[in-house]
Amino acid sequence: MRAKQEKLAALFRQATIIPVLTIERIEDAVPLAKALVAGGVRVLEVTLRTPVAIEAARAMMANVPEAEVGIGTILNANDLSRAESLGAGFGISPGVTPDLLKAASASALPLAPGIATASELMLALAHGFDLVKFFPAEQSGGIKALRALAGPFPDVMFCPTGGIGEANAAAWLAEPNVVAVGGSWLCPAADVRSGNWAGITAMCNRAMKLLKPA
Ligand code: 3PG
Repeated sequence: MRAKQEKLAALFRQATIIPVLTIERIEDAVPLAKALVAGGVRVLEVTLRTPVAIEAARAMMANVPEAEVGIGTILNANDLSRAESLGAGFGISPGVTPDLLKAASASALPLAPGIATASELMLALAHGFDLVKFFPAEQSGGIKALRALAGPFPDVMFCPTGGIGEANAAAWLAEPNVVAVGGSWLCPAADVRSGNWAGITAMCNRAMKLLKPA
C-alpha cells in the first residue's frame, strides 16, 4: 500500500495538471492524447462517462506511449477491475464507499479516492489512502475548506478538482498539501468536436509554462 501511494504521489506531483477527459467519439482519443502530450500534459484521466471510454483509454495507451493514462469516474469495484485489466496507470473516483476502498486496497491499481468532507477523508485514511481527490473543490468551499482539512489531516495530499481552470489553478497549487490539480478546462468539448488539436496543445503549453515553472 505504501509503495503504491508513493508512486501515485510522485506521478501526480510530476504531472502538476491532470486533465479530466470525457471522450464521446473513439476517433478523437488518439489525436487528443497526442495534442495534450505535445503541450507537456502527460498524465491523463479518461472518465468512465461515455460508452467509448474504455476503448478510448486503450487506444491512447497503445498509440501514445508517452502518456500515462488513468481511469476516472470509478464508482465501484467493477469499474476498478475494468481499469486494472486495461492496464491503466491509476484510478480516480469522485467519492468513497467502503466497498470501493476495500477493493482498491487489495488491488494493484493505485487509486486517488474522492472526498469532500472530514468523514469521507477519515474513511479513505482508514483504508490507507492518503492521497485523495478533493471534489468538487471550488463548490465544496474552495481553498479555505482545503486549509481547514489540513488542520486535522496534516499529512494528507490532495488533488483538487472541480471548478479549477487557468485563472485559479496557481492558487491551488501554491497550497503545500496540493500535489496536482485536475480539471476539464484543457479539453474543451468544442475543440475536441472541431478537431482543434493545435488549440489544445497551445492551451496546454501556456498552462504548463504558467503553473510549472522550469
Ligand atoms: C471531475 O469529474 O473531476 C470534474 O467534473 C471536473 O471538474 P471541472 O469540469 O469543473 O474541471
